[in-house]
Amino acid sequence: MPRPTVPLAPGHTPLLGHLVPFLRAPLPFLRSLTSCGDLVELRLAGQRMTLVCDADLTDRLLVNDRAFDKGGPLYDRLREAGGNGVATCPAREHRRQRRLVQPAFRTERFPGYARIMSQRMDTVIRGLRPGSVVDLARETRRITADVLISTVFGAEVSPHVHAQLAADLKELAGGILRRSLMPKPVLPLPTPGNVRYRRASRRSQRIMLELIRRHRADPTAGRAGLLSILIDAHDPDSERQTFTDEEIADQAVTFYVAGTETTAGSVCWAVYLAALHPAVRRRLTHEAREVLAGRTATWEDLDRLVYTRQTLTEALRMYPPGWFLTRETTAATRLGNHDLPAGTTIAFSPYLATHEPSRYPDPDRFDPDRWTPHEDGAPPPVPSVVFGGGARKCIGDEFAILEGTLMLASLTSHWDLRLQPDSLGLPRLPHLTLSPGRMNARIERHTAPAADGPAEAAAPEPAQEGKQEGKGEQRR
Ligand code: HEM
Repeated sequence: MPRPTVPLAPGHTPLLGHLVPFLRAPLPFLRSLTSCGDLVELRLAGQRMTLVCDADLTDRLLVNDRAFDKGGPLYDRLREAGGNGVATCPAREHRRQRRLVQPAFRTERFPGYARIMSQRMDTVIRGLRPGSVVDLARETRRITADVLISTVFGAEVSPHVHAQLAADLKELAGGILRRSLMPKPVLPLPTPGNVRYRRASRRSQRIMLELIRRHRADPTAGRAGLLSILIDAHDPDSERQTFTDEEIADQAVTFYVAGTETTAGSVCWAVYLAALHPAVRRRLTHEAREVLAGRTATWEDLDRLVYTRQTLTEALRMYPPGWFLTRETTAATRLGNHDLPAGTTIAFSPYLATHEPSRYPDPDRFDPDRWTPHEDGAPPPVPSVVFGGGARKCIGDEFAILEGTLMLASLTSHWDLRLQPDSLGLPRLPHLTLSPGRMNARIERHTAPAADGPAEAAAPEPAQEGKQEGKGEQRR
């Protein structure tokens, strides 16, 4: 019996396809497509793709990484920026790379990473001035970028080199989604954006290769850093048993792109959602102040930051940073009831999967108590699709939860963050990750002492309450 063809999503126009609704309000647009069936065809400015709307089929696609290999416009552009790193390489190359990178993410490394995280966030968070209005999206990205560069290259990189690398990697990451939505003929043109992108790419590559060479020349430098782990990485089962310098630089770009905006965005969403839910905000503030008493969180505090972790997890479920990802079929294959030819570009959305009512009842309700620890104290796992799945599951998931928990608790411990009415001045274009865009908050000292019970935390400024979520939904 012939298999049904994948239906074309409604609302396309001849030239742009579905680009306009996709750019104007991507999340409501994706949600609207779930009524069209398990799979639906999307056309984004000439690029055809099959969107998986069903959560079970998304799981099935994720575990079959050989049939549904990394590919599609997003990964094509990511490869341009991060070469063939572990996140972008094809399945045939992936097992080797994953084995070589894995030691950097072993549990015993985490106390060391946590020390770097606490140091870097302490400088930024304590440096905020009471009474000032800051863009939390920028400050949290500054922290995650600093943490990434310091964990990879070691804390001894000079401030000047550190700042240049941070600026170049930021430019690279920012260019990826922009370029993945551009028609191919525009990519080589010397537009200002393309010129900045290429310059940042060349310069960051040069800096990283120099740092790697210096590390190789002086094996005593930065021993705890991720770079030395990648330099030492050795896989006797592979034909090519170690990483080349260029491969290591590719991994560094990969970690930066995968681990900076994602973690920062999840902390911002947690602050934002807590601001809209005063009871959550009170519990969060109470915990941070009771456990930390006004200082920055460290590795030793983690076991007591239970509600902070729950809030972060629920924010990740509500707004998973990796919200729209792509694959390419390597051979004719079947997904659900549909036959897909080789070379089909597939898109899937962790956002759709974490809003599947059969998995998360009342999915639009923000409820950190979904993640109350089990009786043995173990936290329920973060919804796995937030970090992908199968062999390509995020390698930095625990790194991200660790950093996000420390950062959310530290921000809340030091300051009373009051979101400003304009705090969701979202960019019109969706980003590579689902980040909230600009998020202005006034920094105030806490007033009531923490020991008095759940602290009376300020609700959001009146103009934003209730409206913000609607506005956010509208625009993404
Ligand atoms: C909240 C923060 C984060 C989220 C939500 C997140 C999400 C994801 C997702 C969804 C994938 C799978 C992509 C796909 O299947 O197409 C992924 C892969 C990956 N992530 Fe993360 N990530 C986060 C933080 C990090 C951090 C901090 C790092 C590194 C330090 C990192 C490194 C990677 C790498 C290397 C991969 C590719 C894994 C592979 O293909 O073997 N991520 N991440």
